[in-house]
Amino acid sequence: MKDNERKKLIEAAVEARENSYSPYSGFSVGAALLSASGKVYTGANIESASYTPTVCAERVAFFTAVHSGERDFSAIAIVGGSSEKGISSFTPPCGVCRQVMAEFAKADLEIILYDGKEMKVFTLSELLPMGFGKSNLE
Ligand code: THU
Repeated sequence: MKDNERKKLIEAAVEARENSYSPYSGFSVGAALLSASGKVYTGANIESASYTPTVCAERVAFFTAVHSGERDFSAIAIVGGSSEKGISSFTPPCGVCRQVMAEFAKADLEIILYDGKEMKVFTLSELLPMGFGKSNLE
């Protein structure tokens, strides 16, 4: 994937972050997921007063895409930061989101992080080495 395509995905994640509902943590996250068919699906974190129902931006993006019929993905951009101060450091995906990524994407899924200045690119296999997946159930 080229850097200018990555930048477009980052821009979509920055825009999606504006719709974060995160009054309890004050931490807003946005994600933009690129499907193998070339469509972009976005998500933002959505919190709950009882805390545990909170869903991360990445899973909102994945579940929206899967519900739209998508099953294969090539990249996801993630941005996060204080709802007041903005994006100032990298926000790596939590362990639960990494597991959801592994359900629907291959080991070479690009995970693009952005701190407001620079991007960092990882593959899913780098962030979830030796993960449990469907092949373990065969
Ligand atoms: N959060 C995400 O949306 N994605 C991540 O990768 C890390 C954490 C959300 C969950 C919660 O609403 C807030 O950030 C603080 O943990």
